[in-house]
Amino acid sequence: MKTTVSVIKADIGSVSGHCVAHPELIDICDEVLNEALEAGIIKDYYISRCGDDIDLIMTHDKGEENEEVHKTAYTAFMKATERARELKLYGAGQDLLTDTFSGNIKGMGPGVAEIEFEERPSDPVLVFCCDKTEPGAFNLPVFRIFADPFNTAGLVIDPKLHDGFKFEVFDVIEHKKVILNCPEEMYDLLALIGSTGRYVIKRVWKKNGEIAAAVSTERLNLMAGEYVGKDDPVCIVRAQSGFPANGECVDPFAFPHIVSGWMRGSHNGPMMPVSEAEANPIRFDGPPRVVGLGFQVSNGELIGPVDLFDDPAFDPTREQAAKIATYLRRHGPFEPHRLPAEEMEYTSLPGVMKKLESRFEDMD
Ligand code: F6R
Ligand code: MG
Ligand code: MG
Repeated sequence: MKTTVSVIKADIGSVSGHCVAHPELIDICDEVLNEALEAGIIKDYYISRCGDDIDLIMTHDKGEENEEVHKTAYTAFMKATERARELKLYGAGQDLLTDTFSGNIKGMGPGVAEIEFEERPSDPVLVFCCDKTEPGAFNLPVFRIFADPFNTAGLVIDPKLHDGFKFEVFDVIEHKKVILNCPEEMYDLLALIGSTGRYVIKRVWKKNGEIAAAVSTERLNLMAGEYVGKDDPVCIVRAQSGFPANGECVDPFAFPHIVSGWMRGSHNGPMMPVSEAEANPIRFDGPPRVVGLGFQVSNGELIGPVDLFDDPAFDPTREQAAKIATYLRRHGPFEPHRLPAEEMEYTSLPGVMKKLESRFEDMD
């Protein structure tokens, strides 16, 4: 029987401002997921948090896009939203775009990443959860995990990885998708995914079709063409024996690459890998964070997790990220710290242009 790992996440209210999801909301999600466990809808679950986002990590045997599983997540977020409203938490219910469930949580606001697979004799699965950034933030690390031989030694020296991987890329503006093979089409892949606001890696497979990774892209995908803000993403990665090793999966995060998001979803900043306890983005509402959780999936059960970035080996990355944050902040309202006008979540530009319209003159 195949096992499915479903990670469904939403920001449904936080304390203080957009900083941290309140523990009571997590307790309510826990009650709802526990009921689903007892009812046999899911086999196991773990709830994590990154900043103001709650991440529901669930296992089951019902496949991707299962109505009961999605409804469980939706019910958890709805019930927690009620409490968020009572507590007058900040942004209560902010990621629930609709209050009636219609079969699939996709398009309702929460982000979804799911993989279905036949369990190997031992199956390590890693889950990465971000806050204050967008799905394209995973392009660089996921590329490096599955296609960069300078990151993943196994691509060169492990015969089980030597064939490479297939990447599914979404064009979130034109609402189209394409599959590219690596290493054969590596330069074409990079030509696309370097544009992180438009081309987003959605899935990775081995050449034999086995799923290797999935990223949440939902709201951007659904609202293609109309800008609706950043969607703090999650990513699931399978590791070891025929997939990149755990260490190869986390090493790209040792480089605090620059991602879009941060304050008002309108700034570039460094991605800081942190432990669950340190996922509290507050400096200029950031800098953007990523938490990593390492599980063994065993007959549908989640063994673990190991808090992957709770490791002094990532201290220099965090220090470097903090220094980059200081450097970028000194640009204040200037690009490239501030995003280009068309990618900003908040902008006063149309209003300013309207006010100044009559004062603009032709240049000589
Ligand atoms: C970024 C984010 C925050 C808010 C900022 C302003 O994703 O959530 O940086 O954009 O705190 O929030 P409001 O407009 O709610 O005061
Ligand atoms: Mg929020
Ligand atoms: Mg968030």
